[in-house]
Amino acid sequence: ASLRDLNTLAVVASARYLVAVGGITQLREALGWAAQHKLDTLVLGGGSNLVFAGDYDGLVLHMAIRGRRWEQVNGDAAVLVLGAGENWHDAVLYAARSGYRGIENLALIPGTAGAAPVQNIGAYGVELGDTLKSVMALDCTTMDVVTLTAADCEFGYRDSLFKRYPGRYIILEIRLGLSRSQPLKLGYRDLQEYLGNTNVASLTPLEVAEAVMAVRRRKLPDPSVLPNVGSFFKNPVVDAARFEQLQQQFPGVVSYPADNGVKLAAAWLIDQAGWKGFRNAQVGIHNRQALVLINHSGGSGEDVLGLAEEVLQSVQARFGVELEMEPGVVGRR
Ligand code: EPU
Repeated sequence: ASLRDLNTLAVVASARYLVAVGGITQLREALGWAAQHKLDTLVLGGGSNLVFAGDYDGLVLHMAIRGRRWEQVNGDAAVLVLGAGENWHDAVLYAARSGYRGIENLALIPGTAGAAPVQNIGAYGVELGDTLKSVMALDCTTMDVVTLTAADCEFGYRDSLFKRYPGRYIILEIRLGLSRSQPLKLGYRDLQEYLGNTNVASLTPLEVAEAVMAVRRRKLPDPSVLPNVGSFFKNPVVDAARFEQLQQQFPGVVSYPADNGVKLAAAWLIDQAGWKGFRNAQVGIHNRQALVLINHSGGSGEDVLGLAEEVLQSVQARFGVELEMEPGVVGRR
């Protein structure tokens, strides 16, 4: 089965077997069948955070568990329950239109609700972990359905339990704690600039989602036009001493405070290394956000990873900083 339309980088790859999974019974059946045939399995959501380096020689489980409902509506607070296969951005708009706050800054992030906790999606000063209450998942070691609390998920910057133990849990449903009255988070620079003199006191969550969408559209390419997987690298964290050295050598270095040191803007490092707008026959670097790799013209996963490796090495050579890839790699030879 072709995976070309199931990954937003539009890399040409195929899976030995592919099945759409609409619920827990189907999931158990599919896993049983794979075990019986000694096949590996890969859980696929929107395909917006992975690179197929080659074909997948196993069973791809395309998560299609649907459903969106409100639970525990209590005064201003409510819990929104999303099936793993729900489109994330549609869920953001749905919550915002209903007047609930908490995920509006995460508008236009590609992918599914079930994939959101894996890399703890984050943008414009908000992370999924800020609102996530719990995750219902199949624990593949016991085949039991379990509930993991937000604390169990061990969220970090673009990191979680699910990312650290790939294959252990298959997310079925997520629960988000939203509210009609919590303060909107408008502090991220790009968002502030966009809002300008707007009277922020009267803003609705839908208006914030719309502002985020406008800001993203200015910098981030639409995967359906320029195939990409968003940020290709994480923003690296360095310790305070290392940061001071860097700042002396490169006074313009863009950084943010982080828990365990200083987080550097990888986009700035890549941009300074001269990569912004670069392209070869197949792949390139976006001309408005240096952190995004683009598959311009039928590039393979190896083409994409080859360019990523060159970027990584040049940033290492110039700044002595090691970038870490953000998307997962599947089917590497
Ligand atoms: N910059 C450059 N050159 C560029 C782009 C940016 O020098 O080409 C500098 C600018 O100074 C800018 C700074 O880098 O102020 C940071 O750029 P930006 O605000 O675009 O954010 P980012 O740190 O590059 C992160 C996330 C994005 C998220 C934005 C907004 C990571 C790896 N990426 O990007 O997430 O949308 O912040 O919150 O943390 C994603 O993960 O796919 C993603 C798009």
